[in-house]
Amino acid sequence: MKSVLESLKLFTSGKPENQPIVFLHGFPFDHSMWDEQLEYFKNDYYCITYDIRGLGKSPVGDGQFTIESFVDDLFAIIDELNLSSPIICGLSMGGYIALRAAERAQERLKALVFCDSKPEIDNNEGRLKRCAGIKQINEEGAVNYVKNFIPNCFSKKFIVNEAVKYNYILEKAALSSPAGVKGSLLAMLSRTDTTGFLKEIKIPTLVICGELDSFSTPEQMKATADKIPGAKFNVIPEAGHISPVENAKDFNAALSKFLTRL
Ligand code: MLT
Repeated sequence: MKSVLESLKLFTSGKPENQPIVFLHGFPFDHSMWDEQLEYFKNDYYCITYDIRGLGKSPVGDGQFTIESFVDDLFAIIDELNLSSPIICGLSMGGYIALRAAERAQERLKALVFCDSKPEIDNNEGRLKRCAGIKQINEEGAVNYVKNFIPNCFSKKFIVNEAVKYNYILEKAALSSPAGVKGSLLAMLSRTDTTGFLKEIKIPTLVICGELDSFSTPEQMKATADKIPGAKFNVIPEAGHISPVENAKDFNAALSKFLTRL
């Protein structure tokens, strides 16, 4: 079997002997969502991120993905890099992967950081929206779908005040492989519900939410945090769904405070 390190596009910062943190990006973005975290935490941690299969520069293959196969990739990376008790930090789709990874084997992880995400599955309306997205991509490619999806991920303020950064992210995501975007949509559509697992979480957990996140609102994420024994909860001011990009300063401060207390 081909090594995941040879196939998936991986990025690291910091020294391998330091405590590892694996960062998992959201949909339909790539590893660069975590650029400011890899820079900030590199002195004290070994930071690892990668393009989730089918997105960014990682291969699409047959485009048939599930959250389970994404978790398989995550554990393969942990094994191949020989990471001992990594901290897993996932945002939105990356959060679905992180939480399911914890459900499968939390004893292998030191801590969990669950950002702008939810444990619940899509409701029917959400599922039908994803099906409509797949149909649209089949008919016309991924560009319009991605360009309609992404504005909802960011706060209006970020889109206006950080227009250059925002447009760069938008144009890059619009280049995503149509098969990769569809594969991710199907993976999210078919994910399992991890709500029941929340009360079983035994590892230190931080729940982070952008103040203006409309996908997973602060109220919803606070309710999620309240179900996790001992979980910490942080709202990132003036940030939408993509909080580590929109307000990296406060995101990094919240993460740093959690990490130093582990
Ligand atoms: C993401 O940012 O990963 C997506 O918004 C997740 C989703 O569509 O459920």
